[in-house]
Amino acid sequence: MTLHSAIETLREQFGQDSRKVRAGESDAEQIRVKYLGRKGLVAGLFSKMGSIPATDRPAAGQALNELKTYLTGELEKLSNVPAKGEEDKREDMDYTLPGDPFPKGSIHPITQIMEEIKDIFHHLGFSVAYGPEIDTDFYNFEALNFPPNHPARDMQDTFYIGDSVLRTHTSNTQIHHMMEHDPPVKILAPGRVYRHEDISVRSYCLFHQVEGLFVDKAVTMADLKGDLDYFARSLFGERVKTRFRPSYFPFTEPSAEMDVSCIFCGGKGCNICKYAGWLEILGCGMVDPEVFKSVHYDPTVWQGYAFGMGVERIAMLKFGVEDIRLFFEGDVRFLRQF
Ligand code: PHE
Repeated sequence: MTLHSAIETLREQFGQDSRKVRAGESDAEQIRVKYLGRKGLVAGLFSKMGSIPATDRPAAGQALNELKTYLTGELEKLSNVPAKGEEDKREDMDYTLPGDPFPKGSIHPITQIMEEIKDIFHHLGFSVAYGPEIDTDFYNFEALNFPPNHPARDMQDTFYIGDSVLRTHTSNTQIHHMMEHDPPVKILAPGRVYRHEDISVRSYCLFHQVEGLFVDKAVTMADLKGDLDYFARSLFGERVKTRFRPSYFPFTEPSAEMDVSCIFCGGKGCNICKYAGWLEILGCGMVDPEVFKSVHYDPTVWQGYAFGMGVERIAMLKFGVEDIRLFFEGDVRFLRQF
């Protein structure tokens, strides 16, 4: 048999085999091995090249290569033939239908701002500390220099549960942390706080605070101002200015409130800053020696600054949200926007 007729026979045989694959009676891989495998029929024909006269060899080689290319292409098509039974399913499928959307969640705006605040203070060397939301009067008030029946307690409308309080600020974490760790201390205390206030556009019975505490041997008001100014510029942009106004907190002396130049009008005056050009952002001050005494730190050796801010207030300013209650309702139409 000439090589030519051998190739013809092989093609015919392949035609029959591929019909079997299409009919689901055989599978493509089996056929591939039979023809193109290392010991397959095509390899068999190649091995006969030696017995072909030298002058005919180039033409024979070309014919065999063509055969191989042809079979490879056909096998490629055959391996895409759906297995029996699968065929019908594919025909039933409407490829023009829209796919199933995978609903993606988003990070709550309050969490986003808390993360951003933590990041900024992380650069200043603060680590994060957590304290309990249900606490005793001692940690929430007394150790923070609110004497019993002192009118300063009225600043914070407190929820009481028996002998416990729902913390009104994250300052309780300062006390827990200092009682458990020797100075120096540099912590950030984020978390939920509770106040028994009338619910309105601007206040809710529950909100979030981030408080900072830095205690070391030579911490001054200048450190406080420098660090908080850096914080304000990192959060609101380089152009923002800060100012400190005298204030009062039982646990800091002196105490201040920090304002930032209005992020909406740049300080010119608008209805958001009520034409003051400034927005109040946080409370701060130098830790009162009485607080150090209650945690057994020597106030003649240690000094510190502390600050505390409401996260909702900052989120409202940054995102332009006008009603604090939106943060607690879990309405996806609101949450999807962040
Ligand atoms: N705890 C204060 C508040 O809730 C904020 C504050 C913290 C002020 C630390 C000064 C220092 O209003």
